[in-house]
Amino acid sequence: MKNRIIFATGNAGKMREIRDILRDIGMEILSMKEAGISTDIVEDGATFEENAYIKAKAVAWAIAEDAGSKYRDAVVLADDSGLEIDYINREPGVYSARYMGEDTPYSVKSRSLIQRLEGVPDQERTARFVCAIAAVMPDGETFVTHGKVEGRIGYEEIGDNGFGYDPIFFVPEYGCTMAQLTEEQKNQISHRGKALEAMKEQLKKRMS
Ligand code: IMP
Repeated sequence: MKNRIIFATGNAGKMREIRDILRDIGMEILSMKEAGISTDIVEDGATFEENAYIKAKAVAWAIAEDAGSKYRDAVVLADDSGLEIDYINREPGVYSARYMGEDTPYSVKSRSLIQRLEGVPDQERTARFVCAIAAVMPDGETFVTHGKVEGRIGYEEIGDNGFGYDPIFFVPEYGCTMAQLTEEQKNQISHRGKALEAMKEQLKKRMS
């Protein structure tokens, strides 16, 4: 029985989400930091899937290298996600976090994207959040799950919840932006929520 998951992220919000969705899986869930693992990861993949694998494999490698590690039986998970806007060739895509520079505030990044869509009608403002989650099992098996949520880029920033590009991502089924949803509502429809649910099913299968 594989009884531990290490999630390769330093993001507290993601840890909350993964703990919430995987709470009934019967495994202890640790962040990289909680497991005392630090490794320099260069996310230079061309796709979300590649970047998720790069992160998960780097952490699995760090564990394998450490002969005394108590996490050698752990499942390592890592995610990569971002926003694809159809009208601008699916930008910012894998560069979502780095768009206009990692330290540039999201209000500035978001306004830039809205400007690039100036005059573009509703039906051509289609966009999606995409997420890939990669797993490295203790026996070295690797696999990936995916999730996405479709929406449209709005005309201004609306809402205070969430993070990143949430205030400009209009979710048609709710008639509001992602940043106007509660955390619980967002987790139910989000790209990461869906990829995590799919991961949960895959892990359950492998553990039964
Ligand atoms: P990463 O997966 O942590 O590398 O995140 C990539 C970037 O995509 C984030 O920094 C955000 O810019 C964007 N992003 C990913 N998921 C979301 C989301 O749920 N809401 C808003 N922005 C997101």
